[in-house]
Amino acid sequence: MITWALLAVLLASALLYSRWRHSYWSSRGVPTAPGSIPFLGHTLKLLNRKKYRWLIIDEMYRNHGGSLYCGLYEMHTPNLLIGNPDLVKAVLIKDFDHFADRRTFEATNPKDKVLNEMLTNATGDHWKGIRSVLSTSFTSGRMKGMFPLVEAKAEGLVDYFHRELNKDPVVRMKHSFGMYTMEVISSCAFGLETNSFEEDGIFPQKAMEMFKISPILMVKIVILLIAPKLFKLLKIQLSHENFHFFTDVVIETMKQRKTGAKRGDFLDIMLETREDQDEKTDKKKPKYPLSDETVIASSVLFIVAGYDTTANTLGNATFLLAKHPEEQERLREELKKIIEEHGTLTYQGIMEAKYLDGCISEALRIHPPAHFTERSCTKNYQLPGTDVVIAKGDVVSIPVWSLHHDQRYWPEPEKFDPTRFFPENKDRIVSGTYLPFGLGPRNCIAMRFALMEAKLALARTVLEFELRCAPGHEDLEFSFVPGIMRPKDDVFVTLTPVAKE
Ligand code: HEM
Repeated sequence: MITWALLAVLLASALLYSRWRHSYWSSRGVPTAPGSIPFLGHTLKLLNRKKYRWLIIDEMYRNHGGSLYCGLYEMHTPNLLIGNPDLVKAVLIKDFDHFADRRTFEATNPKDKVLNEMLTNATGDHWKGIRSVLSTSFTSGRMKGMFPLVEAKAEGLVDYFHRELNKDPVVRMKHSFGMYTMEVISSCAFGLETNSFEEDGIFPQKAMEMFKISPILMVKIVILLIAPKLFKLLKIQLSHENFHFFTDVVIETMKQRKTGAKRGDFLDIMLETREDQDEKTDKKKPKYPLSDETVIASSVLFIVAGYDTTANTLGNATFLLAKHPEEQERLREELKKIIEEHGTLTYQGIMEAKYLDGCISEALRIHPPAHFTERSCTKNYQLPGTDVVIAKGDVVSIPVWSLHHDQRYWPEPEKFDPTRFFPENKDRIVSGTYLPFGLGPRNCIAMRFALMEAKLALARTVLEFELRCAPGHEDLEFSFVPGIMRPKDDVFVTLTPVAKE
């Protein structure tokens, strides 16, 4: 009897505690999105596997204050959803010093140590140090220098498409572009020839497996969310085994570089920077020198961050063009003119192509692979024009997909209209409403590289093939796995070689 009474008291106290934690936003005058339940907050709602996550967030954005701001709870962690473009800019750009970090965790398992060195997870000055060194890899000069490497891979892609459509004209675009992006990133990141097109992609397979969320990984993530201290204490390993496959490849390549020739890829750039740092006198040595771990972590991160995002973008862009034959033809005509002018698809020609830019930008608007982004508050911050104070440790989320589909900013948001991004129309775009690569000092470090890589592959594909929706695949279906927006199975498009004039 006493035991039951004790249990009841404990449960009631726990419930009261949870209710108190979940009053965080209401006590600050912030509307709370419906659907919060004791202890779990909105976690279950957000992990719903029957509705796309961006649509769940969009409902909050449209109906519950999220287009200005509204409060959420992940377990007990307060998360503020901000949808007002001015507030978005304040958080991501103007007052960046209050929001320099993302939500992160400190890996204590020895196998995970390299995760702490990754730019995406690094915090504060440590992040600043790594970012400033890595940024030198992504200047326009470097992009131009890497163009021939990417060009060779685009050639491989077109050959691969020809071989595939001899077997079946319906081609898995995401799968094929995945091989291309893996080829590009392994070549440009550390000069590795992965032969994906010939061997049907052992590297892309290994990378794709890392994105699968197994039940065991799910349990680990839940422990991390509910009890981060226990997670740390138990030294739970979070990284996938395949992650170590890539780490070993980088370590091996680094060894070879010590004696071998330079290629001008990201690995060379990082190793050169490190040599420069080593040569500096003690006084001039940087506060965060580039360690072996950082070089390894960055190379692996480039694979992880660059492979799937770009392949999804290309898959989605080809699907949209297959659905819109007129726009597809207009793009082909533009590309033919560029070839007439430049003799071939040069770096400059690709970068100047207005309609090509519009097609990629519009694909990224309609289907942004990173459908939301977030920051962690690093020092208390009063939201401009409001009484709301965001406290250190609170998470702020930006609903990228919702901003991209809001008709206040994008007339007929579901319409595929590449001309929205023409230079003469760009001033109609409300700043803070288009952020497929994020915004501000912590945006995608490789935006230029990703755009160059995607534009070249799309241009080569459209010049070579006519794209049509494959029978039974007239609509895109997406995976319910949380994280980035990726197709459910693949993007199936029928390819027919374009008759050469
Ligand atoms: C179309 C392809 C891509 C898309 C849509 C994309 C999108 C993004 C987004 C939304 C972010 C977060 C930005 C923010 O929080 O404000 C990000 C960060 C990042 N991306 Fe990309 N990305 C793409 C390609 C790439 C590629 C090819 C690489 C590497 C070669 C890469 C490396 C990174 C890194 C390292 C970060 C972390 C930056 C930091 O924390 O300082 N991304 N990306």
